[in-house]
Amino acid sequence: MNIGELFDATADAADAVPSLTIRRPDDWHIHLRDGGMLKAVLPFTAAQFARGIVMPNLVPPVTSVADATAYRERIMAARPDGSDFQPLMTCYLTDHTRPDEIERGFAERAWIAAKLYPAGATTNAHHGVTDLVALAPVLERMEKIGMPVLIHGESTDPSVDIFDREEVFMEKSLLPLLKRHQGLKAVIEHVTTSGTVDIVRAHAPRVAGTVTPHHLVINRTSIFQGGLRPHLYCLPVAKRESHRLALRKAVTSGESCFMIGTDTAPHVRGAKEAECCSAGIFGGVTALQTYVQVFDEEGALDRFEAFASLNGARFHGLEPNKGTLTLLKRPSSVLSAVPVDEKEVVVFRGGEVLPWSIGRVKA
Ligand code: NCD
Ligand code: ZN
Repeated sequence: MNIGELFDATADAADAVPSLTIRRPDDWHIHLRDGGMLKAVLPFTAAQFARGIVMPNLVPPVTSVADATAYRERIMAARPDGSDFQPLMTCYLTDHTRPDEIERGFAERAWIAAKLYPAGATTNAHHGVTDLVALAPVLERMEKIGMPVLIHGESTDPSVDIFDREEVFMEKSLLPLLKRHQGLKAVIEHVTTSGTVDIVRAHAPRVAGTVTPHHLVINRTSIFQGGLRPHLYCLPVAKRESHRLALRKAVTSGESCFMIGTDTAPHVRGAKEAECCSAGIFGGVTALQTYVQVFDEEGALDRFEAFASLNGARFHGLEPNKGTLTLLKRPSSVLSAVPVDEKEVVVFRGGEVLPWSIGRVKA
């Protein structure tokens, strides 16, 4: 890896800028949607990441080998010309998931993991699991075949304060689940609290955690800065500043249990600027620029490659990517929205000038 003192080889000496070249990174948590939205958002993810774990919360959800295979083909067909982006598929767990179907999809490499949404926890999660204890036969089979479960960790009890839902889920549901299934590989997705950071650490290496770019740069006050900011609303909702600082420490610590998972979750402007705003932040355009800025600010650029390109591959038993990607410390302005059919999706940090930009990708 080449850090800081190396210069962008594509620029001439006059505009040489500090750069960071890393193995091509992967995104372990992406919502690509389908149809026109898929076509519109995929190029941004494919420009940044070599592989990505694609979430199955379509309407209807991806619950069978046939669904996952067909969805993968639609994604492959929507890739921009010349793209080598590889979608890694997931299965949406429900109360009716059959262990044999799970195993068949894993054996056929139709999917590499299953997604556990507590029923109703987030966008398109109403088909999710209502009883984690009753899911035991499925989780036991996954444990046996070494297939990871990817967990949206929030309590669905409506009486629980929204800012406490992650903590309550961890205490009441996750810790007992990890105890019941001692060999199960699990990813706690989009970690937002210092308590969850500690739980991930305590259960590594069979447990890992993904952290989004937005949870590293916004806190819960950001959502109310000068008025209500619907484009900063996602689930799990951002927490208070002390948690944001704990997340920044965790990702830049160099510990191998933390990895990229952008949770890029596009919704059209009308669904966000609405009486009842949909949960999800479209971070796919500015993900790496944001992550690398955080590592730079924390003086941890030498640890960025592990977080971005190595830890997740190791956890999932995959080889790291062969090629490289160069990030440039050269300010660039970001487009504010991406058109989708006759509508648009607002970009996280869109319209801002960011200190880092994406440079060359070598396959
Ligand atoms: C996601 C979505 O829109 O699909 N929304 C979100 O706020 N993150 C679902 C999810 O990952 O929770
Ligand atoms: Zn998500």
